[in-house]
Amino acid sequence: MVDTSEASATVAGSGDRIRTSGDSEVSTYLEIAEAREPGQLLTPAPEAPEAIVVLDYGSQFSMLITRRIREAGVYAELAPWDTPSEKLSHLKVKGFVLSGGPASVYDEGAPTLPPYVVASGLPVLGICYGMQLLAQSLGGRVAPASRREYGHAVITLSEPAHGLLHDLPATMPVWMSHADRIVELPPGFRSVAHSDDSPIAAMSNDTGCLGIQFHPEVVHTPQGSQLLRNFLFEVAGCSGDWTAANFIEESIRTTREQVGDGQVICALSGGVDSAVAATLVHAAVGDQLTCIFVDNGLLRAEEPERVVNTFRGHMSIDLRHIDAADRFLADLAEVTNPETKRIRIGETFIRVFEEQARGIGDVNYIVQGTTYPDVIESASSGTDATAKIKTHHNVGGLPKDMELSLIEPLRNLFKDEVRRVGKELGLPDEMVYRQPFPGPGLAIRVIGEVTRDKLDILRRADWIVMDEIKNAAVYYDLWQSFAVLTDTRTVGVQGDGRTYGFCIALRCVTAEDAMTADWARLPYDLLSVISRRIVNEVPEVNRVVYDITSKPPGTIEWE
Ligand code: XMP
Repeated sequence: MVDTSEASATVAGSGDRIRTSGDSEVSTYLEIAEAREPGQLLTPAPEAPEAIVVLDYGSQFSMLITRRIREAGVYAELAPWDTPSEKLSHLKVKGFVLSGGPASVYDEGAPTLPPYVVASGLPVLGICYGMQLLAQSLGGRVAPASRREYGHAVITLSEPAHGLLHDLPATMPVWMSHADRIVELPPGFRSVAHSDDSPIAAMSNDTGCLGIQFHPEVVHTPQGSQLLRNFLFEVAGCSGDWTAANFIEESIRTTREQVGDGQVICALSGGVDSAVAATLVHAAVGDQLTCIFVDNGLLRAEEPERVVNTFRGHMSIDLRHIDAADRFLADLAEVTNPETKRIRIGETFIRVFEEQARGIGDVNYIVQGTTYPDVIESASSGTDATAKIKTHHNVGGLPKDMELSLIEPLRNLFKDEVRRVGKELGLPDEMVYRQPFPGPGLAIRVIGEVTRDKLDILRRADWIVMDEIKNAAVYYDLWQSFAVLTDTRTVGVQGDGRTYGFCIALRCVTAEDAMTADWARLPYDLLSVISRRIVNEVPEVNRVVYDITSKPPGTIEWE
């Protein structure tokens, strides 16, 4: 196995010397590449799943590349670019993708290529920065482009389409975003596609090292998915075994192994993640699982009943329903700061949950609905100085002084994969495809102090929003749609009298994940009926406004 810690800092061009462990000889990339034996340097664990490793060089699209690969039925993991090869031994790596990134390969301290990538002999696809890095590491030269290329471009393939370019048209639109370009190809490479401004829009050698200057993962490259599939199946020889059914089978097996005859608890929030996690664990260990649903008094209308019916009725899962509304509302009295609301709700939740769990007896494990974006976010938070915008407390957080082991069956899944697993497990569509709902619930949609009266007003307005959004059949097109009770009162005229009532804000957004979002262009007639119904049916409200802020600069929730 290659000792990456020693080598990674100094690698630049093919002339640079790098050292491999267990081998005192000093080699160049090219020598290693020539001497390689496929797979030799990455020894997977016996039951490791087939996977593509996406090395992250800081592109905003890195996670998207990983998702696109998985959509093609191949398991992919996103890893920081300097991940040591030992950390990949849980995978049977079939190939690497090097993401784009904001740096220039010739910058001092720019991220480098871990030697094991080329040395493994496995196929490599470099995208944008990844391509330039591959070129430079293998003896080519990269320089600033005389004309930067941002946005749409058209590429023309320079040779008959095969391998990476299998089944692609001779010319096709792509999405570019680069200021550097390859001015000299590494030995053994040829340009296989060009655009007006890039003589080398794609490069290839004969041993599966490939580079593309454009982004196949974004929708603006319409043939991008086909290109990624080509890499997976034509070049890397993946089998495409990443399916919901395989995942469930494997997850049930490992959960049974982990739990043995221990007792497990799970906090249900009513959201899709905890629902799918609980159902999966229930499929594995049956009655050894007890679910706890803490009603914090901050839920939407009829939500507690729905959760109880689904789990006790439909899924026959042992569910304890705890009504703790009074306690949560007492803890929120006079609190107006959004972060204080989140912290108070989080703490109260843990106290209530802990008391309930202790009542169950000898519990050994706790299930959490952690998903892959949470894992990636916490993995990168050590190196990434991003500003904290909101504390998104994960309902079900592990109480500090309870010695429970974690079960996180969804920790490698994206939201759409969680939904597919939920569907395969037989959860009702209503649960699987529901819009996300924040842990602190309506407390962060009542602006300012949270009172029972305000929650009641918001629930009635929110019900109308949901009702009309579903009537108009746009519920599943929207990431989220909800009402916010602002703390602004406005003057109105109803009948012949003056009113002074609350202003409700309507928030409806589209998104692929919650990192970015756009306000939904809902039909005027739909907006009109929602507004009319709220003002007519909720007497405390006399005005409705529609939030037309995207994220960024806004956030989805108002608090
Ligand atoms: P923002 O408002 O940050 O929301 O754009 C992004 C997504 O996260 C949800 N959200 C939360 N979820 N605890 C949660 O569990 C929170 O404190 C929280 N705040 C926001 C929000 O509904 C959206 O889906």
